Amino acid sequence: MDQRKWWKEAVVYQIYPRSFLDTNGDGIGDLNGITAKLDYLQALGVDVLWLSPIFRSPNADNGYDISDYEDIMTEFGTMSDFERLLQEAKARGLKVLLDLVVNHTSDEHPWFVASRQNDPHYHNFYIWREGKAGAPPTNWFAAFGGSAWKYDSERDAYYLHLFTEKQPDLNWEERKVREAVYKMMRFWLDKGVDGFRMDVINLIGKPDIFEDAPVASGEVYGNGFSFIANHPKSYQYLREMYEEVLSHYDLMTVGETPAVTPEIALNYVQDGKPLNMVFQFEHMDVDSGQSKWDVRPVDWIRFKQIMSRWQEGLGDRGWNSLYLNNHDQPRSVSRYVRYAHDPEYRKRGAKMLATMLHLMQGTPFIYQGEEIGMTNVAFSRIEDYRDVETLQFYDEGRRKGQRHEALMAAIYAKSRDNARTPMQWSSDAYAGFTSGTPWIKVNEDYKEINVAAALEDSDSIFHYYRALIRLRKRLPVIVYGTYTVYDLEHPSLYVYERRYDGDSLLVLLNLTDSPQSYTVPATFYGKTAALILNNTEPLATFWPYIDGTCDAEGLSPETLTTMALSPYEARVYHINHA
Ligand code: NOJ
Repeated sequence: MDQRKWWKEAVVYQIYPRSFLDTNGDGIGDLNGITAKLDYLQALGVDVLWLSPIFRSPNADNGYDISDYEDIMTEFGTMSDFERLLQEAKARGLKVLLDLVVNHTSDEHPWFVASRQNDPHYHNFYIWREGKAGAPPTNWFAAFGGSAWKYDSERDAYYLHLFTEKQPDLNWEERKVREAVYKMMRFWLDKGVDGFRMDVINLIGKPDIFEDAPVASGEVYGNGFSFIANHPKSYQYLREMYEEVLSHYDLMTVGETPAVTPEIALNYVQDGKPLNMVFQFEHMDVDSGQSKWDVRPVDWIRFKQIMSRWQEGLGDRGWNSLYLNNHDQPRSVSRYVRYAHDPEYRKRGAKMLATMLHLMQGTPFIYQGEEIGMTNVAFSRIEDYRDVETLQFYDEGRRKGQRHEALMAAIYAKSRDNARTPMQWSSDAYAGFTSGTPWIKVNEDYKEINVAAALEDSDSIFHYYRALIRLRKRLPVIVYGTYTVYDLEHPSLYVYERRYDGDSLLVLLNLTDSPQSYTVPATFYGKTAALILNNTEPLATFWPYIDGTCDAEGLSPETLTTMALSPYEARVYHINHA
């Protein structure tokens, strides 16, 4: 299928509004802060902005606990601020995606307040069950720790919450819930929003009968998610949502779907229906053992196998999302690059990772700060952390007698707060994020790593991202080309080819901090190729080609044989198959 779609050609930039830019001095980012930076985002070249939740919320989980879907979070501004943001974005050709969080609401949402009071209209809006002999209905754990059930004395029943107890799960079985959600979606779409990222959308369908899950030795709770994720009812509801809402607009939709394989994902994305793409998690687990906190060295072979399985598994029958960062993940440059504190390694490593991702088939997602190579933080005091998941992990560990140092080591590697420190705009106080006191501490490296410095340096990570995005617009092979991986078992190099209409790109990446010598696969040996991008040479060398002022023949061609790749080097060749 060569179905050209704008959402395949686009590059998405994710904004975590709380940490983007504060314009009123309360220490919390706001919508006007986003509007103020639209020129910056346009200069980067992205096409779509995905805003993490901007709705009214008591912030038990930073906006992923919504108490009013049709109003703006007080700290972020007003509806007219949002309308201005949308208008200004459109004036610059930027589209806007909102975060649709409808697996659960806040326990402060009026629907829940009425449901716990047993109001007949809202009686079935949530998942209420009797306890079993004074204990919760099942032994399931909640995502951030503890039981997935909470007893409510007002209703004298337990409600299900797969996340924190302030995030009760909606009952999608109830038609009134689905209708209310569809109505709310139309409310935003009719304002001109261009689509949705859908939070844990493959958890909305729940089984008819709730059973206990097996419990691992030494544990109290079992994994109820295994009965829920990808339940056939989730597909059914999404198909209904497609018929009722999505199919009536020209949108981009991406579902967040833990526990999916490419085979499962096709149920959601085959031919772009009911969703255009999903966020899979398999490649996020290659540095984890039993849980995400059990930190292991990155297994690159596994990483390549996973990415290749997704590239081949969806291909153009479905469509891939491409990401290494978001608000739930540590910073990729700290995660995958050794010596990321060394300015040269950090720069080169970040560019190598960007090349890897942006040259695959799929829609790339950039998370705020990734484009300047922002790094993980390491606050020594747990009091400086804000994320509910991190705090619950620490408390539970301490209760079990684990050492502060051991827990902090895991937090430094994996805490979601790594991604949530304020965006580093300049070397001014608080990185130029706020004139007040930021809601979470700024990463200390902001004096070196910031947007102002990146804009000035023509070889910065920022300008490299800009080049990658520009190249995508120039070469259809980047968007639509097939993917073939070579030397999959090579522990240090990632080598793949993209091919489209006789055009072919060969991508060579050194994933390690040691030099590598590599003989190109037989198909390429002796071929003439032009180097169109390389992260070890000045970007100025490549701009004429990237900009379209010269073609591949204008660059001095090489004969591909055996080559030396320096640490974290990335090369992209345009191959002449003649
Ligand atoms: C996934 C979101 O990305 C995460 O931030 C949130 O905590 C959970 N879903 C619950 O909404």
